[in-house]
Amino acid sequence: MEKQQQIVMSGIRPTGLLHLGNYFGALRNYVKMQEEYECYFMVADLHSLTTHPDTKELKQNVHRVLAENIASGIDTDKAALYCQSHIHETAELYLYLNMLAYKGELEKTTTFKDKVRQQPDNVNAGLLTYPVLQTADIVLHRASLVPVGKDQEQHLEMARNFVNRFNHRYGDVFPEPFAFNYGSELVKVPSLDGSGKMSKSENQNATLYLADEDEVIRKKVMKAKTDAGPTEQYSQKPDYIENLFLLMKLVSAPDVIEKYENDYNNCVIRYGDMKKQLGEDMVKFISPIREKVNSILADEKYLQGVMEKGAEKARKSARATIEMVRQAMGLNYY
Ligand code: TRP
Repeated sequence: MEKQQQIVMSGIRPTGLLHLGNYFGALRNYVKMQEEYECYFMVADLHSLTTHPDTKELKQNVHRVLAENIASGIDTDKAALYCQSHIHETAELYLYLNMLAYKGELEKTTTFKDKVRQQPDNVNAGLLTYPVLQTADIVLHRASLVPVGKDQEQHLEMARNFVNRFNHRYGDVFPEPFAFNYGSELVKVPSLDGSGKMSKSENQNATLYLADEDEVIRKKVMKAKTDAGPTEQYSQKPDYIENLFLLMKLVSAPDVIEKYENDYNNCVIRYGDMKKQLGEDMVKFISPIREKVNSILADEKYLQGVMEKGAEKARKSARATIEMVRQAMGLNYY
């Protein structure tokens, strides 16, 4: 397929295990996009330093995120898969963009205010300028399509502001970046405790990780909240039951889902059986990914090759952009 002109860029912070929400919300979209667009997918290791200054586990976490991307279907021949810190041009662009970002607007950012609350003893400047670094990641490849979740909308709005300020002052260099997820509907992957979404850090027993062992998956699913079942035909499902059906729709066969829908509507549903089925279908879905991740992690040489190849591709695009930026800014004295 002839690739489209627009460029796709996104990043994942290596601060925890990837879960089913990351898979259906992000990775699966990446895999589709790599067929149609020039794509840059990045492990945001520098961003993780704003909240995780201790780097003891960083290498391991970076390797894991890379392996999880590949095991989920990222093809390193199609997309550039790389580490943020390998591309030094990012730091340079971050510096230039920092001159166009105002303290007031940075302080108003929702994610910044959240972090101030979560880590009052480490309100560092990196945290404040987090959205500037993110903008640098994106526009370093002159990307305009950014597959991210709702929580990143504000960062993208800020990125558009920084880009417009740059273009206005120094000339048109960057396209405006927008959140992009194939149509408007993001797949919601509910957590197993009936409230909220699956999450990297919160309620880990209600989140299914790509790294979970089969027995752990079964146990977590069996613990999901249910009740005695409906007493009236075709009644509305409570949230926690609706969520079980949503999860089933992600991994189970259509006839299985239909059977439990019918059982529910006819008030003969057995939630124990349903959860057993869901547990098995989750195991069938997750275990091949987990095994693939493990075999990739066992091969450090291969991972090193992946990182080198990704960095080379990303650097090529980064250097071209930085050259344009320096010219536009008048930082060319020879
Ligand atoms: N801030 C993003 C998150 O927490 C991660 C990220 C870093 C990112 N750089 C990016 C996302 C560039 C998209 C584009 O999820």
